[in-house]
Amino acid sequence: MISSVLDPASPGAAAIASLFWLLHSIAGFICLAVLTAALWFVYRFRARTPAAQGALIYGDTRLELAWTAAPALLLTFIFALTLAVMLRSEPDPSAAAAGGDPPVRVTVVGHQYWWEFRLPDHGVITANELHLPVGRPAVFDLLASDVIHSFWLPRLFGKRDLIPGRTNQLAFTPTEVGAFQGVCAEFCGAQHAWMHFVTFVDTPNDFVQWVRQQNASPSPAADGLPARGRELFLSTTCQSCHAIRGASEPLASAGPDLTHIGSRTTLAAGVLPNTPDNLARWLRSPQEVKPGNLMPNMRLTEEDIAALTAYLASLK
Ligand code: CUA
Repeated sequence: MISSVLDPASPGAAAIASLFWLLHSIAGFICLAVLTAALWFVYRFRARTPAAQGALIYGDTRLELAWTAAPALLLTFIFALTLAVMLRSEPDPSAAAAGGDPPVRVTVVGHQYWWEFRLPDHGVITANELHLPVGRPAVFDLLASDVIHSFWLPRLFGKRDLIPGRTNQLAFTPTEVGAFQGVCAEFCGAQHAWMHFVTFVDTPNDFVQWVRQQNASPSPAADGLPARGRELFLSTTCQSCHAIRGASEPLASAGPDLTHIGSRTTLAAGVLPNTPDNLARWLRSPQEVKPGNLMPNMRLTEEDIAALTAYLASLK
Protein backbone atom coordinates (compact mmCIF):
# COMPACT_ATOMS: atom_id res chain seq x y z
CA MET A 1 0.00 0.00 0.00
CA ILE A 2 1.84 3.09 -1.20
CA SER A 3 0.83 6.16 0.74
CA SER A 4 2.04 9.38 -0.82
CA VAL A 5 1.07 12.90 0.16
CA LEU A 6 1.15 13.60 -3.59
CA ASP A 7 -1.81 11.27 -4.17
CA PRO A 8 -4.41 13.06 -2.01
CA ALA A 9 -7.81 11.54 -1.20
CA SER A 10 -9.49 14.41 0.65
CA PRO A 11 -9.95 18.12 -0.18
CA GLY A 12 -7.64 19.10 2.70
CA ALA A 13 -4.88 16.76 1.51
CA ALA A 14 -5.38 18.04 -2.05
CA ALA A 15 -4.86 21.64 -0.88
CA ILE A 16 -1.64 20.60 0.87
CA ALA A 17 -0.43 18.73 -2.25
CA SER A 18 -1.15 21.78 -4.46
CA LEU A 19 0.84 23.97 -2.11
CA PHE A 20 3.70 21.45 -2.29
CA TRP A 21 3.77 21.64 -6.10
CA LEU A 22 3.49 25.43 -6.17
CA LEU A 23 6.34 25.92 -3.67
CA HIS A 24 8.53 23.42 -5.50
CA SER A 25 7.83 25.14 -8.82
CA ILE A 26 8.91 28.48 -7.34
CA ALA A 27 12.01 26.88 -5.78
CA GLY A 28 12.81 25.04 -9.04
CA PHE A 29 12.51 28.24 -11.06
CA ILE A 30 14.83 30.14 -8.68
CA CYS A 31 17.32 27.25 -8.69
CA LEU A 32 17.42 27.20 -12.50
CA ALA A 33 17.70 31.00 -12.75
CA VAL A 34 20.62 31.12 -10.24
CA LEU A 35 22.48 28.25 -11.93
CA THR A 36 22.01 29.74 -15.39
CA ALA A 37 23.20 33.17 -14.20
CA ALA A 38 26.20 31.61 -12.43
CA LEU A 39 27.24 29.70 -15.54
CA TRP A 40 26.77 32.80 -17.68
CA PHE A 41 28.95 34.90 -15.33
CA VAL A 42 31.65 32.23 -15.30
CA TYR A 43 31.71 32.35 -19.08
CA ARG A 44 31.26 36.10 -19.55
CA PHE A 45 33.82 37.23 -16.96
CA ARG A 46 36.37 34.46 -17.36
CA ALA A 47 40.09 35.45 -17.20
CA ARG A 48 41.23 36.16 -20.74
CA THR A 49 44.96 36.34 -19.90
CA PRO A 50 46.79 34.49 -17.08
CA ALA A 51 47.58 37.76 -15.29
CA ALA A 52 44.10 39.27 -15.51
CA GLN A 53 42.56 40.61 -12.26
CA GLY A 54 38.87 41.18 -11.65
CA ALA A 55 37.63 44.58 -10.50
CA LEU A 56 37.31 44.88 -6.69
CA ILE A 57 33.81 46.02 -5.71
CA TYR A 58 33.09 46.97 -2.10
CA GLY A 59 29.36 47.58 -2.09
CA ASP A 60 26.35 48.71 -4.00
CA THR A 61 23.41 49.99 -1.98
CA ARG A 62 20.87 49.37 -4.71
CA LEU A 63 21.97 45.76 -5.24
CA GLU A 64 22.00 45.01 -1.52
CA LEU A 65 18.53 46.48 -1.09
CA ALA A 66 17.34 44.38 -4.04
CA TRP A 67 18.63 41.06 -2.75
CA THR A 68 17.26 41.73 0.72
CA ALA A 69 13.86 42.89 -0.43
CA ALA A 70 13.25 40.22 -3.09
CA PRO A 71 13.56 37.18 -0.74
CA ALA A 72 11.61 39.03 1.99
CA LEU A 73 8.73 39.65 -0.44
CA LEU A 74 8.87 36.08 -1.72
CA LEU A 75 8.81 34.63 1.82
CA THR A 76 5.89 36.89 2.74
CA PHE A 77 4.04 35.60 -0.32
CA ILE A 78 4.78 31.96 0.64
CA PHE A 79 3.68 32.65 4.22
CA ALA A 80 0.36 34.06 2.98
CA LEU A 81 -0.17 31.05 0.69
CA THR A 82 0.60 28.61 3.53
CA LEU A 83 -1.74 30.43 5.90
CA ALA A 84 -4.51 30.32 3.29
CA VAL A 85 -4.07 26.57 2.84
CA MET A 86 -4.01 26.01 6.61
CA LEU A 87 -7.29 27.90 6.99
CA ARG A 88 -8.91 26.32 3.95
CA SER A 89 -7.77 22.72 4.19
CA GLU A 90 -9.52 21.67 7.35
CA PRO A 91 -13.29 21.75 7.86
CA ASP A 92 -14.19 23.50 11.11
CA PRO A 93 -15.21 20.60 13.42
CA SER A 94 -18.20 22.52 14.78
CA ALA A 95 -19.37 23.73 11.35
CA ALA A 96 -18.86 20.37 9.68
CA ALA A 97 -22.31 19.27 10.84
CA ALA A 98 -24.13 22.06 9.02
CA GLY A 99 -26.07 20.54 6.14
CA GLY A 100 -25.79 16.94 4.99
CA ASP A 101 -24.84 14.02 7.18
CA PRO A 102 -23.46 14.71 10.65
CA PRO A 103 -19.71 14.16 10.94
CA VAL A 104 -18.38 10.86 12.22
CA ARG A 105 -16.71 11.48 15.56
CA VAL A 106 -13.62 9.45 16.35
CA THR A 107 -11.54 9.50 19.51
CA VAL A 108 -7.98 8.39 18.85
CA VAL A 109 -5.75 7.39 21.76
CA GLY A 110 -2.06 6.92 21.05
CA HIS A 111 -0.42 4.17 23.12
CA GLN A 112 3.10 2.76 23.11
CA TYR A 113 2.85 1.27 20.39
CA TRP A 114 -0.65 0.95 19.01
CA TRP A 115 -3.75 2.97 18.25
CA GLU A 116 -7.07 2.92 20.04
CA PHE A 117 -10.07 4.09 18.02
CA ARG A 118 -13.41 4.89 19.63
CA LEU A 119 -16.52 5.93 17.70
CA PRO A 120 -18.72 7.07 20.61
CA ASP A 121 -21.80 7.73 18.42
CA HIS A 122 -21.59 4.20 17.01
CA GLY A 123 -20.61 2.30 20.15
CA VAL A 124 -17.41 1.03 18.55
CA ILE A 125 -14.05 0.49 20.24
CA THR A 126 -11.28 -1.01 18.15
CA ALA A 127 -7.54 -0.96 17.60
CA ASN A 128 -5.18 -0.23 14.72
CA GLU A 129 -7.93 -0.42 12.08
CA LEU A 130 -10.46 2.31 11.54
CA HIS A 131 -13.38 2.49 9.13
CA LEU A 132 -14.91 5.74 7.85
CA PRO A 133 -17.73 6.37 5.38
CA VAL A 134 -16.75 8.12 2.15
CA GLY A 135 -17.96 11.69 1.63
CA ARG A 136 -18.77 12.39 5.27
CA PRO A 137 -16.60 14.66 7.41
CA ALA A 138 -14.67 12.81 10.08
CA VAL A 139 -13.80 14.75 13.23
CA PHE A 140 -11.04 13.40 15.45
CA ASP A 141 -10.25 14.02 19.12
CA LEU A 142 -6.60 13.13 19.57
CA LEU A 143 -5.37 11.93 22.97
CA ALA A 144 -2.33 10.08 24.28
CA SER A 145 -2.06 7.69 27.21
CA ASP A 146 1.70 7.85 27.78
CA VAL A 147 3.99 9.96 25.59
CA ILE A 148 3.57 12.24 22.57
CA HIS A 149 2.58 10.45 19.35
CA SER A 150 1.57 11.92 16.01
CA PHE A 151 -1.40 10.85 13.90
CA TRP A 152 -0.63 10.85 10.19
CA LEU A 153 -2.62 9.60 7.22
CA PRO A 154 -0.50 10.95 4.36
CA ARG A 155 -3.20 10.64 1.68
CA LEU A 156 -5.96 12.07 3.87
CA PHE A 157 -4.41 14.84 5.94
CA GLY A 158 -1.26 16.29 7.52
CA LYS A 159 0.26 15.20 10.82
CA ARG A 160 -1.13 16.19 14.20
CA ASP A 161 0.32 15.42 17.62
CA LEU A 162 -1.40 13.43 20.35
CA ILE A 163 -0.29 14.96 23.63
CA PRO A 164 -0.88 13.48 27.10
CA GLY A 165 -3.18 15.71 29.14
CA ARG A 166 -4.74 17.64 26.28
CA THR A 167 -7.09 17.05 23.37
CA ASN A 168 -6.11 18.06 19.87
CA GLN A 169 -8.56 18.08 17.00
CA LEU A 170 -8.36 17.18 13.36
CA ALA A 171 -11.01 16.96 10.65
CA PHE A 172 -11.15 15.85 7.04
CA THR A 173 -13.62 14.47 4.55
CA PRO A 174 -12.38 11.36 2.71
CA THR A 175 -13.48 11.42 -0.93
CA GLU A 176 -12.12 8.09 -2.16
CA VAL A 177 -13.03 4.53 -1.18
CA GLY A 178 -10.01 2.39 -0.29
CA ALA A 179 -7.49 1.40 2.35
CA PHE A 180 -5.19 4.15 3.58
CA GLN A 181 -2.00 3.51 5.49
CA GLY A 182 -1.41 5.59 8.61
CA VAL A 183 1.68 5.91 10.78
CA CYS A 184 2.92 7.48 13.98
CA ALA A 185 4.99 10.49 12.96
CA GLU A 186 6.58 11.44 16.27
CA PHE A 187 9.36 9.41 17.85
CA CYS A 188 7.71 7.74 20.84
CA GLY A 189 10.03 4.89 21.83
CA ALA A 190 11.62 1.66 20.65
CA GLN A 191 8.70 0.58 18.44
CA HIS A 192 7.77 4.00 17.06
CA ALA A 193 8.42 2.73 13.54
CA TRP A 194 5.97 -0.13 14.16
CA MET A 195 3.00 1.94 15.09
CA HIS A 196 1.00 1.58 11.91
CA PHE A 197 -2.72 1.68 11.34
CA VAL A 198 -5.07 1.33 8.41
CA THR A 199 -8.07 3.52 7.66
CA PHE A 200 -10.61 1.85 5.42
CA VAL A 201 -12.80 4.38 3.68
CA ASP A 202 -16.02 2.49 2.93
CA THR A 203 -19.15 3.12 0.92
CA PRO A 204 -21.95 4.25 3.27
CA ASN A 205 -23.48 0.75 3.15
CA ASP A 206 -20.21 -1.01 3.93
CA PHE A 207 -19.67 1.38 6.82
CA VAL A 208 -23.09 0.53 8.28
CA GLN A 209 -22.22 -3.16 7.88
CA TRP A 210 -18.92 -2.67 9.69
CA VAL A 211 -20.60 -0.81 12.57
CA ARG A 212 -23.19 -3.60 12.85
CA GLN A 213 -20.46 -6.26 12.91
CA GLN A 214 -18.50 -4.30 15.55
CA ASN A 215 -21.59 -3.89 17.73
CA ALA A 216 -22.40 -7.58 17.76
CA SER A 217 -20.70 -9.63 20.46
CA PRO A 218 -18.90 -12.57 18.93
CA SER A 219 -20.83 -15.78 19.54
CA PRO A 220 -19.45 -17.61 22.60
CA ALA A 221 -17.14 -20.49 21.83
CA ALA A 222 -19.20 -23.66 22.10
CA ASP A 223 -16.64 -26.35 22.77
CA GLY A 224 -13.26 -27.74 21.73
CA LEU A 225 -10.15 -25.59 21.45
CA PRO A 226 -11.87 -22.19 21.23
CA ALA A 227 -13.83 -22.87 24.43
CA ARG A 228 -10.63 -23.90 26.20
CA GLY A 229 -8.99 -20.73 24.86
CA ARG A 230 -11.82 -18.59 26.19
CA GLU A 231 -11.46 -20.19 29.60
CA LEU A 232 -7.71 -19.50 29.55
CA PHE A 233 -8.24 -15.90 28.48
CA LEU A 234 -10.64 -15.31 31.38
CA SER A 235 -8.63 -17.19 34.01
CA THR A 236 -5.16 -15.78 33.28
CA THR A 237 -3.94 -12.19 33.30
CA CYS A 238 -4.84 -11.62 29.62
CA GLN A 239 -7.99 -9.83 30.67
CA SER A 240 -6.26 -7.40 33.00
CA CYS A 241 -5.00 -5.58 29.88
CA HIS A 242 -7.33 -6.67 27.05
CA ALA A 243 -11.09 -6.46 26.76
CA ILE A 244 -13.32 -8.90 24.94
CA ARG A 245 -16.80 -7.48 25.14
CA GLY A 246 -19.35 -10.11 26.01
CA ALA A 247 -16.68 -12.22 27.75
CA SER A 248 -14.31 -10.32 30.04
CA GLU A 249 -15.39 -8.09 32.90
CA PRO A 250 -14.44 -5.35 33.74
CA LEU A 251 -13.31 -4.17 30.32
CA ALA A 252 -9.59 -3.39 30.49
CA SER A 253 -8.05 -0.87 28.13
CA ALA A 254 -4.28 -1.04 28.75
CA GLY A 255 -3.87 -3.17 25.62
CA PRO A 256 -5.88 -3.35 22.39
CA ASP A 257 -9.55 -4.34 22.59
CA LEU A 258 -9.73 -7.88 21.18
CA THR A 259 -13.51 -8.21 20.76
CA HIS A 260 -13.19 -8.57 16.98
CA ILE A 261 -9.50 -9.33 16.61
CA GLY A 262 -10.25 -12.19 14.20
CA SER A 263 -11.62 -9.71 11.66
CA ARG A 264 -8.57 -7.43 11.58
CA THR A 265 -5.97 -7.63 8.83
CA THR A 266 -2.79 -7.25 10.90
CA LEU A 267 -1.39 -8.02 14.33
CA ALA A 268 0.74 -5.84 16.61
CA ALA A 269 -0.08 -2.55 14.82
CA GLY A 270 0.92 -3.66 11.35
CA VAL A 271 3.86 -5.95 12.20
CA LEU A 272 2.35 -9.25 11.01
CA PRO A 273 -0.51 -10.31 8.74
CA ASN A 274 -3.32 -11.66 10.93
CA THR A 275 -3.08 -15.44 10.45
CA PRO A 276 -3.42 -18.20 13.09
CA ASP A 277 0.28 -19.03 12.67
CA ASN A 278 1.32 -15.44 13.30
CA LEU A 279 -1.08 -15.16 16.23
CA ALA A 280 0.58 -18.23 17.78
CA ARG A 281 4.00 -16.74 17.11
CA TRP A 282 2.97 -13.54 18.87
CA LEU A 283 1.59 -15.40 21.91
CA ARG A 284 4.72 -17.55 22.09
CA SER A 285 7.08 -14.60 22.29
CA PRO A 286 5.76 -11.08 21.81
CA GLN A 287 9.19 -9.55 22.43
CA GLU A 288 10.73 -11.50 19.60
CA VAL A 289 8.12 -10.25 17.15
CA LYS A 290 8.14 -6.65 18.35
CA PRO A 291 11.00 -5.96 20.78
CA GLY A 292 10.14 -3.25 23.30
CA ASN A 293 6.35 -3.59 23.14
CA LEU A 294 4.54 -3.72 26.46
CA MET A 295 3.14 -7.27 26.26
CA PRO A 296 5.01 -9.64 28.59
CA ASN A 297 5.86 -13.19 27.66
CA MET A 298 3.12 -15.23 29.36
CA ARG A 299 5.20 -18.43 29.19
CA LEU A 300 2.28 -20.34 27.72
CA THR A 301 2.55 -23.99 26.84
CA GLU A 302 2.11 -25.00 23.19
CA GLU A 303 -1.30 -26.45 24.11
CA ASP A 304 -2.42 -23.18 25.66
CA ILE A 305 -1.13 -21.25 22.66
CA ALA A 306 -3.13 -23.47 20.30
CA ALA A 307 -6.28 -22.98 22.40
CA LEU A 308 -5.87 -19.19 22.70
CA THR A 309 -5.11 -18.91 18.99
CA ALA A 310 -8.25 -20.86 18.11
CA TYR A 311 -10.34 -18.67 20.40
CA LEU A 312 -8.90 -15.31 19.28
CA ALA A 313 -9.05 -16.22 15.59
CA SER A 314 -12.75 -17.08 16.05
CA LEU A 315 -13.54 -13.53 17.27
CA LYS A 316 -14.71 -12.09 13.98
CU1 CUA B 1 3.82 6.59 18.56
CU2 CUA B 1 5.77 7.19 17.35
